[in-house]
Amino acid sequence: MQKGDLLYAGKAKSVFLTDREGILLVEFRDDITAFDGGKKDILDKKGCFNAKVSAYIFRLLTENGIPTHFIDMVDDRRMLVRSLSMIPLEVIVRNVAAGSMSRTYPIAEGTPLSPPVIVIDYKDDSRHDPMLNDDLILALKLLSAQELARVKDLALAVNSVLVRFFESLGITLVDFKIEFGKAGEDIMLGDEISMDSMRLWDMHTGESLDKDVYRFSKGDVMEVYRRVAEKICAGGK
Ligand code: C5P
Repeated sequence: MQKGDLLYAGKAKSVFLTDREGILLVEFRDDITAFDGGKKDILDKKGCFNAKVSAYIFRLLTENGIPTHFIDMVDDRRMLVRSLSMIPLEVIVRNVAAGSMSRTYPIAEGTPLSPPVIVIDYKDDSRHDPMLNDDLILALKLLSAQELARVKDLALAVNSVLVRFFESLGITLVDFKIEFGKAGEDIMLGDEISMDSMRLWDMHTGESLDKDVYRFSKGDVMEVYRRVAEKICAGGK
């Protein structure tokens, strides 16, 4: 497998072409950003922790029948993935009110949400990722009604698997963000699922175990990422 040209560089990952048709190489860099890039740093090994956790979670989801772009790890910060035509949506699933939900709406942080709440934002930094609704998604021709239903079903299926998994680790999965892409007619999970894209709380102490540690300067981010990555990759045993 030969690494080819850079296809795309995001805030924390770079995506490269490969010499194999339809297969891309994703490199998890050590960059960490928050607040639309308003806060940024480079933290040694951060990319490795997120790559490891993403790979573990993609494998777990695959075992549970959820299609993802993940193929295999190449080394500790690079993975091979299936090339998808990405859908410019950020699909957020919330099990507990927190973050922007509690800042925007009259609901206290920590309020359980049952059934879970799905929020879909339009992925566009220049527009600050505005929230969509079903009618807007159809009007903007981002998805058909059938595809939207599939995206929501998959998001809830991911949530069920991950809630159970994190419970077994003594961690509450508060919320997370996922992105989807298309391979022909099939919709699959793309991007990553890591401490950058999930909100995780220690079930007993309420300690933040995710990017909120960085966003709100709550402590040593890398110590937390290392600890959580070890726990996740030990597989709830
Ligand atoms: O900020 P907010 O509370 O809306 O975030 C909800 C969840 O989605 C959090 O877990 C956050 O880390 C994730 N998220 C993300 N990328 C974004 C926005 C939110 O990973 N651009």
